[in-house]
Amino acid sequence: MAGEITGRNVEKYIYKMLPKRDAVVAEMERYAEKHGVPIIGPAVARMLYLLAQISGAKRIFEMGSAIGYSTIWLARAAGPRAEIYYTDGDPANAQRARNYFRRAGVEKRIRVMTGDALKMIDSVPGKFDMIFIDVNKDQYPSALRKALPRLKSGGLLLTDNTLWSGKVTRKAKDAATRGVQKFNREIYASRVLFPVIIPLRDGVAVCRKA
Ligand SMILES: C[S@@+](CC[C@H](N)C(=O)[O-])C[C@H]1O[C@@H](n2cnc3c(N)ncnc32)[C@H](O)[C@@H]1O
Repeated sequence: MAGEITGRNVEKYIYKMLPKRDAVVAEMERYAEKHGVPIIGPAVARMLYLLAQISGAKRIFEMGSAIGYSTIWLARAAGPRAEIYYTDGDPANAQRARNYFRRAGVEKRIRVMTGDALKMIDSVPGKFDMIFIDVNKDQYPSALRKALPRLKSGGLLLTDNTLWSGKVTRKAKDAATRGVQKFNREIYASRVLFPVIIPLRDGVAVCRKA
């Protein structure tokens, strides 16, 4: 339960109500917990799922996918005609993710790419219906610069950890907090984005591009 922006009791309350996940997703949650992999978790995953379904997003680029937990939720929400781009810098994560995608029956919808997501997005032509940013936090302003021109008009930019355990409210010296603070300032200053930061778990920024 990273962040706990809303307080421990409210956070516990939200998580207690969540329906059980299927075997593959539940196994991913257990693996992430055991090995300290920072996944969005089921409460935020449900929000991503809902936004993908409401918006009808099919072409989705994810920056920072780790073991593919958020990727599976997006792939399921977007359905069989989806084209989801998984990206991660760690090939071992990608190998594990591929295995989960196959077992979850969504491997045909997902292109797995290993390397720097901010560079790899340049190698995929066309615009995206949705871009999800979850890379290293000091890279958030650069990720925004890369993502924005690649989002179609009416597309959604979603970003995790935008309240960064509340550290965004204080004067920060570390690059990660500064990165998130700069990112937040820039989305709210943007003329083309309509942002809302939702204080769920560690804060999720939801932006629609005009
Ligand atoms: C917070 S985790 C992603 C979790 C995933 N979105 C989920 O919720 O299931 C961040 C991941 O991004 C990767 N990463 C960080 N910066 C990256 C970059 N510039 N390009 C590709 N991967 C990156 C890390 O290796 C790590 O696995």
